Amino acid sequence: MPDTLTIKDNRTGKTYDVKITDDTIKATDLRQIKVHDEDFGMMTYDPAFMNTASCRSSITFIDGDKGILEYRGIPIEQLAEKSTYLETAYLLLNGTLPNKAQLDEWKNEITMHTILNVNLQALIDSFRYDAHPMGRLISTMAALGTFYPEAKNIFDPVCRQKQIVRIIAKIITIAGFNYRRSIGMPYSYPDNDLSYPGNFLNMMFKMTESKYKVSPALERALDILFILHADHEQNCSTSTMRVVGSSQADPYSSVAGAATALYGPLHGGANEAVIHMLNEIGSTRNIPAYIEKVKAGEGKLMGFGHRVYKNYDPRARIIKRAAYDVFEVTGKNPLLDIALELEKIALEDDYFVKRKLYPNVDFYSGLIYQALDIPMEMFTVMFAIPRVSGWLAQWQEMLNDPDQKISRPRQIYTGARKLDYVPIGKR
Ligand code: CMC
Repeated sequence: MPDTLTIKDNRTGKTYDVKITDDTIKATDLRQIKVHDEDFGMMTYDPAFMNTASCRSSITFIDGDKGILEYRGIPIEQLAEKSTYLETAYLLLNGTLPNKAQLDEWKNEITMHTILNVNLQALIDSFRYDAHPMGRLISTMAALGTFYPEAKNIFDPVCRQKQIVRIIAKIITIAGFNYRRSIGMPYSYPDNDLSYPGNFLNMMFKMTESKYKVSPALERALDILFILHADHEQNCSTSTMRVVGSSQADPYSSVAGAATALYGPLHGGANEAVIHMLNEIGSTRNIPAYIEKVKAGEGKLMGFGHRVYKNYDPRARIIKRAAYDVFEVTGKNPLLDIALELEKIALEDDYFVKRKLYPNVDFYSGLIYQALDIPMEMFTVMFAIPRVSGWLAQWQEMLNDPDQKISRPRQIYTGARKLDYVPIGKR
């Protein structure tokens, strides 16, 4: 059977054979379909990219119907159980797990690059005390790039690797410093003896003690959250990273752009929205009435539903388990009971069952962040910290992909044409 698609254009009676590769046809192959020679040719109309593959990628695999997520072929469940975030970041960026020497070198490099140029502190100092942490993160990341003008050499693999290390290392310092500034505390500097998540907690919460002591259970829970958030193929922010990067912008600017896309409540802002929702519900008694409101179209159940998963998000299952480990140390988050009951009721309700709406990664992650004393406004920052490794892996893959060019979608123009300019006095 030939791997082609035969298309008949009923406007002209002509037929066309279009090649099928990986169950996909090339959108540009449709351009030969024309009524007249001067026609632009057939396009596809796909707002929100519901059915358009924009790249070939070997980084992350998702089967949304079965609830499967793999990084470089390894199931997320195994990575969450056995790996660390830094090892997972190496895997995403390099394609395979590191051997012992490679992992030691990678960890050492990241640890040695966590310090920020002191001039960047002037920028962090200049934000108002109540500036949103994501606005701070986005601006500080863009500003960080100004310290490394060589970063524009994106096709030099050595230079590129240096920037990747810097971004992954320094994002925890940027997040920690901005938090300290917002609460009027002196900066807590990176401690090279600590792990990546431990160092982040140190830069957030160290007080007057000479050495910050990390709780192993909390450090591990944070590492698991970082692993689960590291990549998720062509989501809104990753696509933004690729789109901005396709203009050959430097990686700091591209990461700042991707972080901006992450900021919205339908993407990385959902974990914060979940806590607001649970607070608004207030008690398990109020859940049925809340669900009725959602079903009547008055708002959404935050932390539920996903463009790709039409099954339980595998990350939500792992996070739900990790939450119990955290609560053993911190005491139970009182919102947990509301979340559990809300999930139970929603999963039995026809509205949610029919639409295949299940808890997503954000449904339980906010409860853990809250238990770790991370302020709610920083939850999206907690998503951005590990996601930079995914963004950078996808960006690097794009730069090495000969099929890629500057991103430039088409439009179907619906406005007026050929009007005359009317002088202002005659309008
Ligand atoms: N609560 C109630 N109804 C929902 C929800 C929800 N959370 N999500 C989708 N629906 C309904 C939606 O109204 C629509 O109903 P109908 O067919 O009657 O019009 C149907 O389900 C299909 O939804 P959709 O809006 O076409 O789905 P989408 O793929 O465009 O949206 C989504 C995906 C994640 C934006 C959406 O499910 C949503 O807004 N969820 C709440 C926000 C959230 O939790 N976001 C985090 C996503 S996971 C983390 C990340 O990757 O950023």
